[in-house]
Amino acid sequence: MNKCIRLLILLIFICLIDNTDNFLLKSRLSIIKIGSFNLRRYSFSKATSTNSTNSYISQILQRYDLIFLQEIIDISNDNRVVNLLLNHLHKKLKLRKYEAIISPPLGSTSYKERLVYLYQKKSSKIKILSSFVYNGSVSKMFERPPFILRIQLSASGQITFIGAHLKPDCVYNEFRLLRTVIDELKEKSSIILLGDFNADCSYLNNAKKKEIRNIYFNEFQWLIDDRTETNLLESCSYDRIIVSSGINQWKKVNWKANTNGTFQFDKKFKLTKQSALQISDHYPVEVDIY
Ligand SMILES: *[C@@H]1O[C@H](CO)[C@@H](O)[C@H](O)[C@H]1NC(C)=O
Ligand SMILES: *[C@@H]1O[C@H](CO)[C@@H](O)[C@H](O)[C@H]1NC(C)=O
Ligand SMILES: *[C@@H]1O[C@H](CO)[C@@H](O)[C@H](O)[C@H]1NC(C)=O
Repeated sequence: MNKCIRLLILLIFICLIDNTDNFLLKSRLSIIKIGSFNLRRYSFSKATSTNSTNSYISQILQRYDLIFLQEIIDISNDNRVVNLLLNHLHKKLKLRKYEAIISPPLGSTSYKERLVYLYQKKSSKIKILSSFVYNGSVSKMFERPPFILRIQLSASGQITFIGAHLKPDCVYNEFRLLRTVIDELKEKSSIILLGDFNADCSYLNNAKKKEIRNIYFNEFQWLIDDRTETNLLESCSYDRIIVSSGINQWKKVNWKANTNGTFQFDKKFKLTKQSALQISDHYPVEVDIY
């Protein structure tokens, strides 16, 4: 073949690749990966442990543009535990930095946990608008009231996250109260409920689950289905991501099909059950939204 023609073909080829890249880049720019992870009693001792736990946890957290964390045990008044977590994470990252939005210690007994949103700082995609612990009419009826975060997502407008860790013995009641929370917020924006809701097995039977789904959250779509095991010890779907579907007053949450599910870190890192459990007994649940 003539050298010029070969060169021309090569150039066309490069242009094609470049265009696909641009296209992918553009769609990737407006997509963010969000998650929810129960970090199983992430306390000072877990945060300072010199074993590989924190290295794995950092690798997991890096997957996300924004992640809601539960079971952060920290009663210090300088957020010691979360700061250690951020240090571990930033050790692994050269350019990206995360920032934490941290609730006060929540709980009606001496056992208290903080709820935390971690997000990529200086991301052009996410703008944090506000955050607060729900303090409306039914707030005292929760073991830990929901932690609410409002963001502006570059493409799709405002999204309100309602993050919660429901009390195992009160799942049915607290779940119904989440509906009251939503109604009181009077949001028009898209809504995402996420967290360890203990929404399965012995804590929420099928009849009650159906009732919650069909009566209380009829306008919402459950992205983590009942067959998805979100727990390493039991075949249960405790952790959930539930999004508004555009029916009624709330905007639809646009999410990418097949990006909803769990991140099975034990399989990914080839860990034994025992070492995986040092990270957590829960998998993160995740979905890409845009
Ligand atoms: C690693 O840290 C975890 C969390 O603190 C702890 O439960 C576990 O025993 C530690 N493992 C080793 C091998 O030190
Ligand atoms: C509830 O929280 C909001 C937002 O932080 C605050 O403006 C309001 O005063 C609080 N209401 C009560 C009753 O504490
Ligand atoms: C993802 O969401 C779709 C639609 O709700 C559902 O059919 C599918 O089972 C979900 N996948 C997982 C892993 O939960």
